[in-house]
Amino acid sequence: MMKRFEDVFGRAPQALGEAPGRVNLLGEHTDYNDGYVLPIAITQTTRVTMGRADADHTDLYAASLDARARFTLDQAPTEQFARYVHGCLRVVQDEGIAVPPLLIHVESDVPMGVGLSSSASLEVAVLRALRALLDLPLDDVRIAQLAQRAEVVHAGVNCGIMDQMAASLAGTERALFLDVLTLERRLVPLPEGTAVLVVDCGIPRSLAASKYNERRAECEDAARGLRVASLREITDAVLTDDLPDPLRQRARHVVTENQRVLSAVQGVSKQAFGQLMNASHASLRDDYEVSIPPLDALVGLLQSAPGVLGARLTGAGFGGACVALCEAAEIGNVAGPVLDAYARMGHRGAVLVP
Ligand code: GLA
Repeated sequence: MMKRFEDVFGRAPQALGEAPGRVNLLGEHTDYNDGYVLPIAITQTTRVTMGRADADHTDLYAASLDARARFTLDQAPTEQFARYVHGCLRVVQDEGIAVPPLLIHVESDVPMGVGLSSSASLEVAVLRALRALLDLPLDDVRIAQLAQRAEVVHAGVNCGIMDQMAASLAGTERALFLDVLTLERRLVPLPEGTAVLVVDCGIPRSLAASKYNERRAECEDAARGLRVASLREITDAVLTDDLPDPLRQRARHVVTENQRVLSAVQGVSKQAFGQLMNASHASLRDDYEVSIPPLDALVGLLQSAPGVLGARLTGAGFGGACVALCEAAEIGNVAGPVLDAYARMGHRGAVLVP
């Protein structure tokens, strides 16, 4: 039995914050290029309960890991899960808000390490609980910005803002269409009669962090070469042709991926939406080079399965999850045969959503 706040700390919590994981439908590796993204929340969430502590330190318990950590704001904890929480408290303190010692209980069913943003859901849930406890005047956009800062500064991941905006603002029924430059956004429904399937390819994302930073740097080089502040300003892929490879390929992915998001949110048919996802995968594989053979194999099986409209890798790449847009009526029949065929190739996949 999972221990509750009361079991761990011997009293009732004073505040609650909750936030979902996300799966990105389109717009991959565009957020740090000031582009467009289209993530949707998944039903799995992180739930944080909190109270004031009568001590000079914060006590944290992660129920899903059955792990404890103790820290003060001045001294970052060594445990990775605790660093995200500590980082959130620190960024709030940096806003000039006094953060007292706390008792914090975390419980999450968001799959970890597969590209579904378990860390962003943790950060947003912690900040929401803190907002409730201290009655802080922070709106959901501000919460996402603080969560991103916590991840970049204190967890050491140089991410964009998509995941935290999704955890803070996306719904499970409607995707969040976000312009990262202006933060203008609206919720858009999935094409009529469709549903989302997420499958893990079973390979951990080992190169993700180092390659992620390398791709970011390549995009910055490409933008400098094209004399623009960010690749978002380039709207015609032909303009990238004079760049040397691999910068040309990286820029072409970003430019065409932004176009795919903008097309998808114009209310295209479910078939056209699926085609955009297929094209996104090809671009991530060939131009952005963030796929790996098992992901390509699984995506290929999904793309040719009956009831699937389109599929691609989702998240940073190099392993983790794939997302498929399916006919809602068929969604229960898709994964079984796909995972059997994937197993015959020597891999073990798993359904993560629904
Ligand atoms: C990770 C980052 C996001 C985004 C994606 C790729 O999830 O945290 O900011 O860059 O990769 O689209």
